[in-house]
Amino acid sequence: MKAISTERLVLRPIDLKDAPDLFAIRSLPEVHKHIFSGPWESVEKAQEWIQNIKDGPRSFMYTIRPKRQLDEDHDGGEMIVGVIGLNRWDQVHFMYDPKVASRGYATEALTAFLVALFELQPKRLSIGTLVGSDNAASINVLEKCGFVPDVPQTLRYEPQSAEISEEEELNALQGIGYVPTGDSYSLFFIYPKPGLAE
Ligand SMILES: CC(C)(COP(=O)(O)OP(=O)(O)OC[C@H]1O[C@@H](n2cnc3c(N)ncnc32)[C@H](O)[C@@H]1OP(=O)(O)O)[C@@H](O)C(=O)NCCC(=O)NCCS
Repeated sequence: MKAISTERLVLRPIDLKDAPDLFAIRSLPEVHKHIFSGPWESVEKAQEWIQNIKDGPRSFMYTIRPKRQLDEDHDGGEMIVGVIGLNRWDQVHFMYDPKVASRGYATEALTAFLVALFELQPKRLSIGTLVGSDNAASINVLEKCGFVPDVPQTLRYEPQSAEISEEEELNALQGIGYVPTGDSYSLFFIYPKPGLAE
């Protein structure tokens, strides 16, 4: 997996050494209130999460760093401001440091991630994500990038192998094979692979 360069950001494959930075971001209440599994208790939990992503049959994650220093609180070195990737539930996951909110970073990174995803997993026909119904900023980002609301709205799916089959993908497009989370607060958004016939 290669790093991705966008106009303002560098997306690098996640590494265990990123755990302290991710732990700091996820510990912020305004961040973890939107993440279903909540805050991590320790940096070790962040390491465990990173290791799970690395061990998952399809999951992968990038750290996000601005190319230029944009934040006076940092010393000019490269800082991690967020992550984006495919989690172990085969859904898009992203989180950002609120210090860099509303600069369009989430939109820029998600756009680049979607291109990478369909290149890395060419058999994939769609990608979805669960988002809290009160998470207006994330819903805004998803819609700006071409995600549309889908039913059923509370879905969870865990891939068992790295190989993506045609049947599995066609089922995913119809919501078959997903297990309800029992969470009535979440909305499910889906992004069909560009170029698929209606
Ligand atoms: C939600 C989050 C990803 C947004 O990141 P970001 O870098 O600020 O996103 P962007 O700047 O690309 O776009 C945010 C958009 O939502 C808008 N927005 C910001 N706060 C908003 C709010 N409370 N209500 C509605 N829209 C809001 C912004 O104005 C912007 O839209 P615009 O470009 O049309 O003006 C970030 O705040 C975050 O990490 N939140 C916590 C974790 C999380 O929610 N993860 C996603 C779980 S699915």
